[in-house]
Amino acid sequence: MIRSPRVAVFADAAAVARSLARRVADAIRAKPTLVLGLPTGRTPLALYAELSRLHEAGEIDFSRVTTFNLDEFYGIPSDHPGSYRSFMRTHFFGRVNIDPARTHLLDGSAADAAAECERYERAIEDAGGIALQILGIGTNGHIGFNEPAPELEARTHRVTLKPETRRSNAALFGGREEDVPREALSMGMGTILQARAVVLLATGAPKAACVERVVNGPITTALPASFLQLHPDAVLMLDEPAAARLTPNS
Ligand code: F6R
Repeated sequence: MIRSPRVAVFADAAAVARSLARRVADAIRAKPTLVLGLPTGRTPLALYAELSRLHEAGEIDFSRVTTFNLDEFYGIPSDHPGSYRSFMRTHFFGRVNIDPARTHLLDGSAADAAAECERYERAIEDAGGIALQILGIGTNGHIGFNEPAPELEARTHRVTLKPETRRSNAALFGGREEDVPREALSMGMGTILQARAVVLLATGAPKAACVERVVNGPITTALPASFLQLHPDAVLMLDEPAAARLTPNS
């Protein structure tokens, strides 16, 4: 039986990052105009460091690569130090030779959020769709800012953030949870599932419980990442602590 998502377990977070960075490098070598979907958060930091290292070593040319980030806070300008635009500049875009015009993020200062979400969907379509979407996962099973809820949105949309999600982003706002915006704009589940390949990164013991449910549980809007079971080319790349609740055959 072909199971989705596939599961790949590595000794530690650094090994996960090295393996995915190699995959990204190979994909860019095969197609220099690759379209990547990217997450922010703590988990992908090791990946961005490794990709930057490979670029410095002359092994990856990002000059023709296009990127789309999953989400952005709503209600702050893109140059706000807590914005995901700023995060990406600090940890990745500012360290490689990517063309800033090819790095797409939702505009959290757009007056008309619905129009901004539509613009983003069109931009992804105009770029030919996302070839490889990289995801992190919240401990509540969210991907992008698609939070557990009775219903999920298919397309890019405006969301109200859960208290636990605002708490886990407090570091970007000087540790002050009350300064984390209450809303965000996020790709929808359909936007994510339309990527031709999806890689979900999860490292550390706090992710083990939701990883187990993503692999073995039912598909449910209470665990948005469970929808990856419907994707024909999705893989979970895990370190051992995040994989601790999986049995070898699960
Ligand atoms: C951020 C995003 C979120 C994070 C998730 C995990 O762009 O899409 O879904 O991936 O909150 O965050 P970390 O990696 O900080 O545990």
